Amino acid sequence: MTIPCDILVFGGTGDLALHKLLPALYHLFREARLDPAVRIIALARRNLPRNDYLKLAERHCRAQIARSNFEEDVWQRFSARLDYFPMDASQSADFGRLARYLGEPGGLTRIFYLATAPNLFVPIANHLRNAGLADAEARIVLEKPIGHSLESATAINEAIGAVFEENQVFRIDHYLGKETVQNLMALRFANALLEPVWRNNQVDHVQISVCETLGVENRGGYYDRAGAIRDMLQNHLLQLLCLVAMEPPSQFEAEAVRDEKVKILRALKPITGQDVQDKTVRGQYGAGRIGGQEVPAYYFEKDVDNDSDTETFVAVEAHIDNWRWAGVPFYLRTGKRMARRSSQIVIQFKPVPHELFSGAQVNQLLIQLQPDERISLRMMTKSPGKGMRLEPVDLDLNLAQVFSQTRRWEAYERLLLDVLDGDSTLFMRRDEVEAAWAWVDPIIKGWEEHFQPPRNYGAGNNGPEQASALLAHQGRHWYS
Ligand code: BG6
Repeated sequence: MTIPCDILVFGGTGDLALHKLLPALYHLFREARLDPAVRIIALARRNLPRNDYLKLAERHCRAQIARSNFEEDVWQRFSARLDYFPMDASQSADFGRLARYLGEPGGLTRIFYLATAPNLFVPIANHLRNAGLADAEARIVLEKPIGHSLESATAINEAIGAVFEENQVFRIDHYLGKETVQNLMALRFANALLEPVWRNNQVDHVQISVCETLGVENRGGYYDRAGAIRDMLQNHLLQLLCLVAMEPPSQFEAEAVRDEKVKILRALKPITGQDVQDKTVRGQYGAGRIGGQEVPAYYFEKDVDNDSDTETFVAVEAHIDNWRWAGVPFYLRTGKRMARRSSQIVIQFKPVPHELFSGAQVNQLLIQLQPDERISLRMMTKSPGKGMRLEPVDLDLNLAQVFSQTRRWEAYERLLLDVLDGDSTLFMRRDEVEAAWAWVDPIIKGWEEHFQPPRNYGAGNNGPEQASALLAHQGRHWYS
């Protein structure tokens, strides 16, 4: 059971609130994890009566929640805890109205969830302070992206830090709330077997891929200014890289875990000058077919510039300059409108030192994050019959099947619960966000300076050819 609190969701009529946050809160409510005194207050500009908001919320929640989990009586009780407060988050007077509406905290912690564009983070924090709402108990949750560069992220962090202490700030990267991503830590730090081979003398290279079939949906305006590097690589992919590469923390506790992650981000070898051309690839999808349907080219998407050169795909060869990982390439790639939705981490081990049998003999550990949650270890085995003909066979751990009796939690359920519990382990600390930008900024700058336009790839493909070349010249290829 959580603490009694008011959860205020700025951006209450937006996609994030309606598709992710409210369904997650419904599940937590249904499973009696929320204190009965918890109130959820959605805030947005639209002047809606409460009842209309409840109808909107219900429509979206019904669409997101499995039918077997959507229960009328639970919804009635849940929606009784849900309110809507129309306000303009850029107007200080509206925060005075909000403070009057909320009244005295009376033992309730206030959680401010900013599901808004990042340019509103600082004005909202300042208005909350001026209206007397940012007390020492309050918590503020910020959605990625935090800024669009190191400079803007630092400015946001400074301004937020002037209102809230670091332990009151929860910077969400929803990938850290995914079960399989947390499993990565369990896999590494609860199985002694892997530790001796988890280093450069055994690992040939690592691949981290997050491929989507979705396009930019209704977010063209935001996405066209961000692109794949800011939207995905700076945060989700670098967080995954940290979990693969970090040293074991001394305790499973917020500061210890984040100290180790930040060391990895700081050890990333900068990609500058000619390396920007040689070690990165940007792409943009053209027209094509996804699941049998024709889809338009990126620059014809809603709210996207017709001559946009924003990348919808990025691939990077990263290196970590430390003892454990020296010489091991980490290939990262992410893209929209790709052949299939699949996120995975592949640890490719080195071949055996002396070949007894003919053919490539390599082990590969695959950690599939989505759509299936699987961990499999590719082993070489002898195929039946005469002779020593070898074949790779997978030792397969299908987590969805193993835990088939347990409902799989959505990332936001876990993360919201952690905010209510005041546990920041799975949230990005200020220095992590800034270290990630410090590595990404020179790549973006290099693209601008050398005018590196994105390479075209047809929707429904695996990204531009150049992404394959990034590995091929070293005799490697992307796992598919
Ligand atoms: C978000 C990005 O952070 O993650 C989106 O802004 C992307 O562009 C989404 O589609 C992917 O999340 P998931 O959980 O579907 O892999």
